[in-house]
Amino acid sequence: MTSRLRILGIETSCDETAAAVVVRHPDGRGEIVSDVVLSQLTEHSAFGGVVPEIAARAHVDALDGLIEEALSRAGIVLSEIDAVAATAGPGLIGGLLVGLMTGKAIAMAARKPLYAINHLEGHALTARLTDGLAFPYLMLLVSGGHTQLVLVKGVGAYERWGTTIDDALGEAFDKTAKLLGLPYPGGPAVEQAARTGNPARFDLPRPLVGETRLDFSFSGLKTAVRQAATAIQPLTQEDISDICASFQRAISRTLNDRIGRGLARFRETYPDLPNPALVVAGGVAANQVIRATLQELCDRHGVHFIAPPLQLCTDNAAMIAWAGLERMAAGLPEDPMAVAPRSRWPLDAEAATRLGSGKRGAKA
Ligand code: KG4
Ligand code: ZN
Repeated sequence: MTSRLRILGIETSCDETAAAVVVRHPDGRGEIVSDVVLSQLTEHSAFGGVVPEIAARAHVDALDGLIEEALSRAGIVLSEIDAVAATAGPGLIGGLLVGLMTGKAIAMAARKPLYAINHLEGHALTARLTDGLAFPYLMLLVSGGHTQLVLVKGVGAYERWGTTIDDALGEAFDKTAKLLGLPYPGGPAVEQAARTGNPARFDLPRPLVGETRLDFSFSGLKTAVRQAATAIQPLTQEDISDICASFQRAISRTLNDRIGRGLARFRETYPDLPNPALVVAGGVAANQVIRATLQELCDRHGVHFIAPPLQLCTDNAAMIAWAGLERMAAGLPEDPMAVAPRSRWPLDAEAATRLGSGKRGAKA
């Protein structure tokens, strides 16, 4: 398809309510025309995590206004869009229902096609919107609900090379923060505390390091942090900083091994690729230590490291809109009005029965 396409995107799978208008130009270039995100962080922080019922209600309250804002910032009315894309999974079912039903209603009223988007596909294709990246490439998704290394071969063509078999990486940060008495969300708090800490003080485990399969495991690390913290109660600021720094170092070493193997496999699979690339997505991508680790790894393997702007790494509707545009441009069919949201929805359907496939916890 070569014409200019304009789409409204809607994202409500977790604790961000988001709407965006994105254009795909005839040359394939993407342009974010408007991108509005409302985080529910304050609603959930008192509970130390996302509360599904509160999230769903907050989406109901905010979504209509956000869609209006996205359209007005784009300077258009509904009749000027070519399609609607709404996240249909994986995620919290209440939130998904709110977004998908709203998307259906708008599509029906405006007589436009509806695309029910897999949230993970949104993350997977973002680098094509921001950097015009060509297929194939590797994508590392590290968020509060997912830790996956995915080979992105084309629109709708994904191979999951590695998955966490227990906690997601963001979840490990959040749990570590909680047991050290640091605030939610834990990632930024742990990173901050680690800045002044001694990463060599605690020798924390690095599960699965050395194994040829590319999966991840973080729950043992969290247990080791608990044991270290319990052994030296009461904890001083210095102890907390040292634990956080040691925790981040263990994660860096784990990623070094796991992603290093993934990059080697990628290079072997595609020896002649002119621009091999690893793209990072998810909130944990904000972490400077993790970024530096990935950058070094990529340099070592001759792979281009791409970290999209943080607001496009975390949950947003521009990535959902873009996934819809990619599907349209690839000639994939629109979705029927009967399409239902799915709390679990692995990106690579044939791997649906694998351990740790769909999503864990409340976040995607
Ligand atoms: O992608 P995201 O905003 O939301 C979903 O999970 O969908 O990711 C949130 C996760 C949380 O677990 C948070 O603790 C983690 O990303 N995170 C970080 C940092 N900033 C956010 N983890 C490590 N270091 C950070 N600076
Ligand atoms: Zn996400």
